Formats: sequence, structure tokens, C-alpha cells
Amino acid sequence: MKIVCIGAGYVGSVTAAALAALGYKTTVVDMDRMKVEQIALGNSPIYEPGLGELIKMTAGRTLFSSMSYEAVREADAVFICVGTPSAPGGSADLTYYRQAVSSIARHLDPARLTVIVNKSTVPVGTAGLAVSLLEDEGWEAGRQVSVVSNPEFLREGLAVEDVFHPERIVVGVSDRRSGEIMRDLYLPFIERRYPEALQAFLKDHYPRNKTRSAYMETDPRSAELIKYASNAFLAVKISYINEIAQVCEALGANVREVARGMGLDSRIGSRFLQASSGWSGSCFPKDTSELLATSAKYGCELTVVRAAVEANQAMHRYVVAKIRRRLRSLYGKTVGILGLTFKPDTDDARITQAASIIRQLAELGADIKAHDPQGIPMFRRVNPDLPVRYCTSLEETADRSDALVLLTHWQEYIEPDWEQIRSRMRGSYLLDTRNVWDAGQLREMGFQYEGIGLGD
Ligand code: UGA
Repeated sequence: MKIVCIGAGYVGSVTAAALAALGYKTTVVDMDRMKVEQIALGNSPIYEPGLGELIKMTAGRTLFSSMSYEAVREADAVFICVGTPSAPGGSADLTYYRQAVSSIARHLDPARLTVIVNKSTVPVGTAGLAVSLLEDEGWEAGRQVSVVSNPEFLREGLAVEDVFHPERIVVGVSDRRSGEIMRDLYLPFIERRYPEALQAFLKDHYPRNKTRSAYMETDPRSAELIKYASNAFLAVKISYINEIAQVCEALGANVREVARGMGLDSRIGSRFLQASSGWSGSCFPKDTSELLATSAKYGCELTVVRAAVEANQAMHRYVVAKIRRRLRSLYGKTVGILGLTFKPDTDDARITQAASIIRQLAELGADIKAHDPQGIPMFRRVNPDLPVRYCTSLEETADRSDALVLLTHWQEYIEPDWEQIRSRMRGSYLLDTRNVWDAGQLREMGFQYEGIGLGD
């Protein structure tokens, strides 16, 4: 099988590298010359653990990159993996998606069926929209071209593990032939029939992963909605536990214990019940706002999802209020922020809780220092107006700070040299929004430690 992936971002580069590692001849197409060159050189265009190795294994053998759409002509399937950011008003902006469809339309082979696969998270009805665009260009749907919805469920930072051990593969098709092609394409993933070199790579990196994959075929609209409904549900779950965390603090209970007890009920499940400063990232904020915008357009008011979004914004304010309570006035106080990405193991800092919390702290007069192992360049680029002194290490961030606030639980923040931090800080307040530090040890050392929802 021959594949083209349009877009070499967080979804496209992982998808392309995975398909290439399976042995499919795969070409990634991107307008960004730097990304195309990096892939050709065997390097990852983004920071994602494991991806560099995968690209090194495949570049020039089964994985190719290009700025041209030429490879579409010989492709059996063309995966669209372009960004669909939020437009003003909350709906997804389909500019890049539409451009991809019209460029594909100019390069299809008229003599056979090419399947166009929507991997980008696109509003319900987009597969249908693509069919109309292609028909307008003279292509016959079902015979020369088919559009399939195949939402991706990869988590950033764990994307390479997820792509080879998917819990579910959802494919929305409107004709039998494209359904067969998609099933053939995914069969090795479902049966874990991977080439030897790839098996060795997976055994080495993820020896304990025993996930089984469910393959679900449905109609395109339902597949598109599965993606939004899933992300919104997960966002609701986190907003819920964050509200329970606030109740824990008020009533003297411990949210980690409460979540543990709740999770023992398999109807609830233990995952996505970790209290935090709130959810963010490039998916939940944009997908919840698109779902709300589209639903409203059709007269449906999703009160639960809207409440989850509002509760999330309230969580950022709650974190700021906690800091304020301890430091009293923030004027002239220095707050050190640890973690600018929305979660660890990614350089993605497009939409983060850090930006919202830093903005509020700065407005209250605080001086902000910040560190992140990977996220500083992107954070600085998307938040040029934030008055932040960027640091090269955790220790430098601690220097003369009145408070240290952990927002992202990067591994290197988990067990730092506390003696050194204590001696460098001006104050002693630690706010651990991921509940990963050892409260007892830190209090013994003279820190004023607080977590989220720990109620002590
Ligand atoms: C999310 C979904 O989990 C993926 O299944 C989906 O494919 C992806 O969006 C997408 O639409 O592309 P991702 O945004 O990479 O993945 O990150 P998550 O691990 O879901 O975390 C999202 C946010 O929730 C982060 O800020 C994280 O720190 C926070 N979170 C997560 C919590 O605060 N508590 C938790 O228990 C879990």
C-alpha cells in the first residue's frame, strides 16, 4: 500500500512514521521546508518521545517527505493531518483542510479509487463537505475518490506508544470498497503483526503495554462526533475532579484518596481523575469550543460541556487565589513557574494553563520567572506580551523567588535538589498543582507546601 500524509505536525508526523515503520511507502507533504528537510535527514520535526528513532529507522527507506502533492497520484490512501485551530466564535477553522482537499483534487489518479482519510479533528459533516468539494472538481465519489473519517486518539507525549497500541480504531465510511481498504490498512495494527525491527523497538520501549485494539466501522458523521464527544467527556471528567478537589480542601478530605476510591468502580474508572490546575492543550479547549459552537448552531445547548469549560477557567483563578492567599499582596513578589507546556513530554505550548495563570499573576503585580525543559521557544512565540523572565533551569527559577509553582510534572521536576532550592529561594511557598512532591519531606525541610485538594 502507498500512503500520503498531508501535514507534518503532531498528528501527521507520528501517523506517517508509524505507517512507514509498518512497511507502507509513505510520503509526508508539508509546506514548511524545515519540517520536510528534517524528516528527509531522519530527524523528528517535533519533540515527541520515540518519534526521532522511528523516523531514523524509516527515512529514505519507506518514509519520504516533500513539499509537493505529486505522491498523491500513486497513493491508495491520503491522510489529511492538517491543523484545525479555533476560529473567532469557537468553530474550527477549516482553511488548511480545504486547501489540502483542493490540492489533493489536482493530483488524483482518475483511473482508480483513492481513499481520503480525515485524521484532522474536523467538525461533524466535514467528510460530506469534502465529497462535495471533490465532486465540484469533477471527481466521482465512490468510484474515483472516497472520503473516510478516521479520528485520531493519540495523546501528545505518548503518541508513539498510542499509535502502535491503539485502544480503538474508529472508521466512518460511506461505501464498501473504502471500508475494505481501511480495514486492510489497519489489520497489522489490530493483530499486532509488526515487522521484526519494529517489534524489537516496541519491546524495548513499551514492554508492558498489552492493550488490545477494538476496530469500529460506522458512518462518517458518527465517527466525527465520537472524537468530539470523547474529548469533551474527558474534559468534563477532569473539571469534575478539580471541583471535588476544591471541596476536599474546604472539608479536609484528600482528593487523591477520593479519586482512588471512585476509580475502583469500573463504571467510573480511575483514569483522568488527577486533580490539576486545569486541562488545556491543543485539543480539549478547541474541541470543546467547536462542539459547543456546532451544537448551538443546531439548537442544542450542551450545558454539561459548557460548565466543564467554565469550571476549568475557574480552576485557573482558584490556583491564583491560593498563591495570593499565601503571599498576600503579589506586588514585588517573585513567582517561579515550573512547566509551560500543557503536559509533560511535549514541546506543545500553544494553549496552556500556564499562560492563563501567568497573565493573572502578572496583572496582580507579580514578577514571573519560568522554566520548561522543552516548551520555552513555543510559549514565548505564542505569548509575546507576557512579562516572563525565562530561566535555563529549575534552580535558576528558584533563585530569589517567593514562591515556586509546579504546573507541569516533567520528570526532571519530580525529585530536584531541595536543599539547593531552599537556599536559593527568598520565600518558602511551594504550590504543587500535580500533587507529585512529598509533602511530609518538604514541610520538614521548612517549605510551606500546598498541593491541590489535599485538604491538610
Ligand atoms: C487528548 C486526548 O486524551 C487524546 O485521546 C486525543 O487524541 C487528543 O487530545 C487529541 O484530540 O488529539 P492530549 O491533549 O495530548 O490528548 O492530552 P491529555 O493527556 O488528554 O491531557 C489533556 C489535559 O488534561 C492536560 O493539560 C493534562 O495535564 C490534563 N489532565 C489530564 C489532568 O489535569 N488530569 C488528568 O487526570 C488527565
